[in-house]
Amino acid sequence: MAFNEEQFKEIMAEFTIDTERLQGIAASFRQDLQLGLRDVSLSSMRMLKSYVGLPSGNEKGEYLALDFGGTNVRVSKIRLDGGGKYEILKRVGRPLIVPGEYDYICKDATAEQMFGFIAELIDEAIDGDHDTKYYLGHTFSFPSTQDNIYNARLIIWTKEFATQGVEGKVANDLLVEALKRRGAENVVPVAVLNDTVAVLLSAAYKTPDTFIGSIYATGHNTCYLEPSIHDANCFGSGGMILNLECGNFMKLMPNRFDREYDEGSEKPGEQRFEKMVSGRYMGELLGMAIAELLGEKGKRYALTSVDMSMMILDDTENLQRATDILMAKVGRELELDDVKKVIKLASAIVVRSARLAAASFVAIVWQRAGHGKIVRQHVAVDGSVYEKMPLAKENIVKAMAELLGDDAAQVDTILDNGGSGLGAAIAAAMVKAD
Ligand code: GLC
Repeated sequence: MAFNEEQFKEIMAEFTIDTERLQGIAASFRQDLQLGLRDVSLSSMRMLKSYVGLPSGNEKGEYLALDFGGTNVRVSKIRLDGGGKYEILKRVGRPLIVPGEYDYICKDATAEQMFGFIAELIDEAIDGDHDTKYYLGHTFSFPSTQDNIYNARLIIWTKEFATQGVEGKVANDLLVEALKRRGAENVVPVAVLNDTVAVLLSAAYKTPDTFIGSIYATGHNTCYLEPSIHDANCFGSGGMILNLECGNFMKLMPNRFDREYDEGSEKPGEQRFEKMVSGRYMGELLGMAIAELLGEKGKRYALTSVDMSMMILDDTENLQRATDILMAKVGRELELDDVKKVIKLASAIVVRSARLAAASFVAIVWQRAGHGKIVRQHVAVDGSVYEKMPLAKENIVKAMAELLGDDAAQVDTILDNGGSGLGAAIAAAMVKAD
């Protein structure tokens, strides 16, 4: 059965955002930001205080960095040498879920199990050494409220995490308890931060003029340095970094696929922007569109963003790779013309995602500039979608140029690979140096 041409066109249009609409989205994002600065309850974003500003770039010492925010947990031992230099001395990592073996992120898993697993990994990073004192920076990449650099309390799980007993708790306390159970009390968590904040710290440590940090991966979120916020508990300089939790931005129009996916998700009504942008969801949206084209509306296929990337990059004769992926995931051998259409749809979903991310970056650049000039600056981004997804980076650049016009030359995006780990070490150093 070949796809219906009209239906295909209509679905493509659902996933297309022209310049005018994008301008509207960027303006609405900026307005939501301004509302939130006035009174956070007026914004759809959580705009969480991080209790750090920018590092000096001269932070030094050896620290542990725990990066916990996606399906892979990583622990690194990092030596900061100052002058923007550092060395990763050791790095270990493990997934929180291995299908058929274990799953620490599902509803049946408990906080104790999850943090026990993480403490075990920390133990591996320090080779079971329970004597040396290690200060640890903890990148905990979920919306959390805090009133100092240590006590981030999880508001709500995102990214389809569902482990019991963590929402409402201070993540570092759960970690400390788990370390204690392992006899590793020599590991002392001193700072907790969102991954976007970690990316900004990491980029700013190496590259001056970086004020915005973003993650474009399983999840999507952005933070920026807000110069007007000062607090006695805040480390670093230049004001305070605000973790926008803009995955929760809601003042935009989701299409019918976005709405339908949201209704069946772990947290309906939450993270609407993230569900349109991040890697966790792109494959799901594509799958829903394919189901409709195949007359199987409502059916879910396990398509992932990695599948999308492989299909978009398929350069085999007759798109054999994409055909095989679709055969495996959709359970049908599609005609070549339909495979081509699926690739067009996948591309449209990626392009939409990149354009939305770009609109949010531009909104923050505008906000920081106020009535003044847009200064030369970098937006630091980390994450698999930004790094590896075809079409993502180039469409961010293109969309930023559409929105910023002549000012586009002032702003670029830079990849800050592994910033989540490095930023955690920098935060720990900022605390210990004070
Ligand atoms: C989700 C989390 C947020 C995190 C982002 C990227 O949006 O809520 O805290 O920064 O994913 O990992």
